[in-house]
Amino acid sequence: MGIEIWDNLVVSILILFGILETIAGNLKRSHRSWSDWIQEVGSFFALASLIKPAIVLTIVVLGNALFPAYMNVLTDMNWGFVLLGYLLVDDCLQYWYHRSAHEYNFLWKLHRAHHQAEEMGFFVSYRNAALYYIMMPNLWWGGLVTFMGGGLAVVVGLVLKQIVIIGSHSTLPWDKPLYRIRFLQPLMYVLERIIITPAFHHAHHGKSKLDGISDPNGNFGNMFSIWDQLFGTAVYTQRFPSDYGLPNDPKEHWTASYFYPAVQAKDKHSELSRGYVKTRTATNEPIWVELKKDEPYLWCQCGLSKNQPYCDGSHHGTKHTPVRFVAQRDGKAKLCNCKISKTSPFCDNSHESL
Ligand code: FES
Repeated sequence: MGIEIWDNLVVSILILFGILETIAGNLKRSHRSWSDWIQEVGSFFALASLIKPAIVLTIVVLGNALFPAYMNVLTDMNWGFVLLGYLLVDDCLQYWYHRSAHEYNFLWKLHRAHHQAEEMGFFVSYRNAALYYIMMPNLWWGGLVTFMGGGLAVVVGLVLKQIVIIGSHSTLPWDKPLYRIRFLQPLMYVLERIIITPAFHHAHHGKSKLDGISDPNGNFGNMFSIWDQLFGTAVYTQRFPSDYGLPNDPKEHWTASYFYPAVQAKDKHSELSRGYVKTRTATNEPIWVELKKDEPYLWCQCGLSKNQPYCDGSHHGTKHTPVRFVAQRDGKAKLCNCKISKTSPFCDNSHESL
């Protein structure tokens, strides 16, 4: 029953954002392919009608069988307190799960479809593999709170959270004009340090750090930005990237993106293909490059790029991130390629100790 209410409310929020994006002309300008739509809309309905009910049912059946004494223990507790507790634990779990999906290769493969979207939009938040959702710890937490009698808090909490999440993925940047109004600036400063704004989350979807706005390896939060601040991954620029998506994206068929690892990509260049391994391309020799004054560059720190010494996006699915630097003058420079220089991106001859 609670899930039905949640579904209806979230569908209403999606319809509202769809109408607003259509009025703003964003849907008309969209270059989304059928494959994108199938993946985004299909994934939403599979999540709402299959995955989430199955998780809640599993928790309820297991809870009844193993811990019957805990059923409905939250019913007499203050409702607002249950809601706050549910939301904080839910969002913290999702922060770490999302962050892990950028740092561990298997989880990255389940999440990368989310970052393949080359344009933002109200449905983009649902682009993930089915297994990504099945393993999502906060969905199981929601099932647990429901079993313990906090079903109403879960429904209300999820609706509030979906408003923030769908809003932060939408092409309607509600925060953009507000940053420009001088007397609202202190308010916006505080607000973006509490909840996820479109600027904060769009930066996470930007194609690369090169633009000085994007950081796909930062801003992992979903409803609250407090976790990014606490764990050192928050990036605030109040600006929006112009390029979204993944560098060197082989654009797999949606069946591989959604059903991985059960369905794998045929393209051997895809991370989702059978037997694909990222190999180390770094060497023990520095690389001389020609730099242009005031140009930004992204130096590869992970040692996996096929475009050494620069980043080509291969670091996704590892704990490494590229180093952005701006050339101070025109001319040749010796960049580190052993990846142990203490003056990276520049060579400090540390490779001689290898
Ligand atoms: S490919 Fe980006 S840091 Fe190595």
